[in-house]
Amino acid sequence: MIVNNILETIGRTPMLHIPLRRGEVGLYIKLEMFNPTGSMKDRMALSMVDSLPIALKEAAISIVESSSGNTASALAMISAVRRLQFTALMDSHASSDKIFTVRAFGSKVRVVGSGDGALATDQRDEEARRIAIEEGAYWTEQHNNPANAAGYMGLAAELLEDLGPRITHFVSAIGTGGSLCGTARQLRQHIPELQVIGVEPVGSIIFGGQGGCYRQSGTGTPEGANVGVVIDYDAIDSGRKVGDDNAFSICHYLARRHGLLVGGSTGGAIYEALSVALEAPVGSRIVTLACDSGTKYLDTIFNQDWLSSHDIHITDVEAEFAGLFADAPAHRSR
Ligand SMILES: Cc1ncc(COP(=O)(O)O)c(C=O)c1O
Repeated sequence: MIVNNILETIGRTPMLHIPLRRGEVGLYIKLEMFNPTGSMKDRMALSMVDSLPIALKEAAISIVESSSGNTASALAMISAVRRLQFTALMDSHASSDKIFTVRAFGSKVRVVGSGDGALATDQRDEEARRIAIEEGAYWTEQHNNPANAAGYMGLAAELLEDLGPRITHFVSAIGTGGSLCGTARQLRQHIPELQVIGVEPVGSIIFGGQGGCYRQSGTGTPEGANVGVVIDYDAIDSGRKVGDDNAFSICHYLARRHGLLVGGSTGGAIYEALSVALEAPVGSRIVTLACDSGTKYLDTIFNQDWLSSHDIHITDVEAEFAGLFADAPAHRSR
């Protein structure tokens, strides 16, 4: 494929099929890390920038967004191509790779938060609001911007084109809710009986419950932060919580067994997708998104020292879901 502009490479990502229960159930993982900045967020960032009023685009205004990293990387890439100024507000403990990615595209990073490892989502949003008011920047406000969810219309169309209307379950991570709700609403127009399952980390409060610390990046909402209007609870049949141990164990399993590097939010979603697959009727097609690439987390999820220092334990996924992997060797030592 020859393109005239890197933005044309957003979307049309491949899909990995993993047969489960000897082919009775199919798990389909949409590989969103094949987008140019390595995450599904390229889709929504382009949609948010395209939805800016023309007068603002022509005035070459600066934009600002608060992000755990992927939205910031995507907006930085798009700003480079579209000649916009962009400032990203990121957590003090965001990985240095994510901060350097934004800077590599020529955008600015302002680091927010105390550095104690807690997510600073509410502080980041406050700072974005302040910069918008005092410095005249345009805050894309991903948690409340309808163009976020609308950015996934193309993703839903690709899923329908590849799998047809026989998708039975859509299981995916939820943060702003754009990817889950935007995709689900489109799919439902063709598949009214689709089961939509949102997955957040244990410690996130989107589906209620006790707030607490979690290390799955980009996903969930910490206690104290606002749940934005992009989360459409009517589009979701069930909300589930997955802890870091289980989410990151899936990341290790996918890397070692399937050669696929995914981030922690994807690990959480796939853990839940496998739980659904245990009980799903024969012929079920379970779709999930690989939200981003594990290459963004080599120094954390895939670093034994980091795992040990955060008391995170990698478990044997093939043993836990033995009923699904009937063809796999019975037990693998790690
Ligand atoms: C790695 C990762 N997973 C999941 C999510 C959640 O996606 P959404 O905001 O569409 O709910 C994000 C959002 O930033 C993310 O970066």
